[in-house]
Amino acid sequence: MPDSTTDFDAGLFRDHWHLACHRNELPTPGDYLRMRTPLGDLVVFNDSGELVAFDNLCPHRGARMFDGEAGNGPATCRYHGWSYQKGRVIVPLVEDFAGCDTSSARLNTYRLDWCGDFLFVGLAPRQGLYQQLGEAAALLENIGFNIAGRIDLNAGSFHCYWPVAVENALEPYHIAMVHPDTLGTLALQAGANHYLGSNSVWYAPLGNERVNKQLHGLRRHFAIDYGYDGYMSIYLFPFTMISSTFGYSYSLQHFFPAAGGAEETHFSSRLLGAHLANERSAQLLAPLFASTAGINRKVFEEDHEVCRRVPKSSWSPAPLAYPAASEAKIAHFRQSCRGWLES
Ligand code: FES
Ligand SMILES: [Fe+2]
Repeated sequence: MPDSTTDFDAGLFRDHWHLACHRNELPTPGDYLRMRTPLGDLVVFNDSGELVAFDNLCPHRGARMFDGEAGNGPATCRYHGWSYQKGRVIVPLVEDFAGCDTSSARLNTYRLDWCGDFLFVGLAPRQGLYQQLGEAAALLENIGFNIAGRIDLNAGSFHCYWPVAVENALEPYHIAMVHPDTLGTLALQAGANHYLGSNSVWYAPLGNERVNKQLHGLRRHFAIDYGYDGYMSIYLFPFTMISSTFGYSYSLQHFFPAAGGAEETHFSSRLLGAHLANERSAQLLAPLFASTAGINRKVFEEDHEVCRRVPKSSWSPAPLAYPAASEAKIAHFRQSCRGWLES
């Protein structure tokens, strides 16, 4: 391990691209989305049609600009009214700043790049985005083109160290025990893991034939050209997961470390809906999306309940002593962690 887990968490954040949002989550000028990272806030903001990502700090004296998790509003600081518009910082009473050059004031921005309609942000990524994503890029492009927008946003804290939460999301072994009435009802089969560099995908057919049939029957309500007929869970090293049943909606999850190596994970999950066939389909499927959002929230509460039982000291990047076949993606994740630590 490096000197401290703080270096490990912050280093992974600094060295990688992170999936920030889908283009259709911030369609209107003023739309914003806030994430908490080990290095502080990260805000994506629609600045008159251009997306910009910055650290949420005002260039004047560093007050936080946005408070909510997501919403719409001007990028105006509530302290002294500095604002950001069309790529420029606007300073009230600018004549009062005769002794300095306020025209050089800038937001602390992140680097941006697109994979299809998914926006990625990076502080100092070691690789180009497509190099980091490898074969996962084509999959993300296909998914991205089929997403219409955000249906739900659920953000909070998991009281555990972030790799504990990530590893929980990487193995289906716990489903029967922890999610008997939610995810467990799909009766997911063993399926297959695909490893794409440090990223991975699990494709699992549904064992529940009744649900399988029902979901097949809904296909005609969607205007999509991609979707796996079953359950799919994508892991993007280090902090992001995307899961979906039949490609009708996608749950985009982040497990960002808290600052300072704390035993806390900044968790968020967003439900992104796929394009619907028509207005009638939208009306018919509204209850399905609402129930999916509710079930997802329940699933993450159940996950939190078990993750908080695992102290930070129980985790290390060493191989598992007793790995089940269904825990193979944990071995892959720990290998990627060791790879970063040795580099
Ligand atoms: S700190 Fe933002 S305007 Fe002063
Ligand atoms: Fe789970």
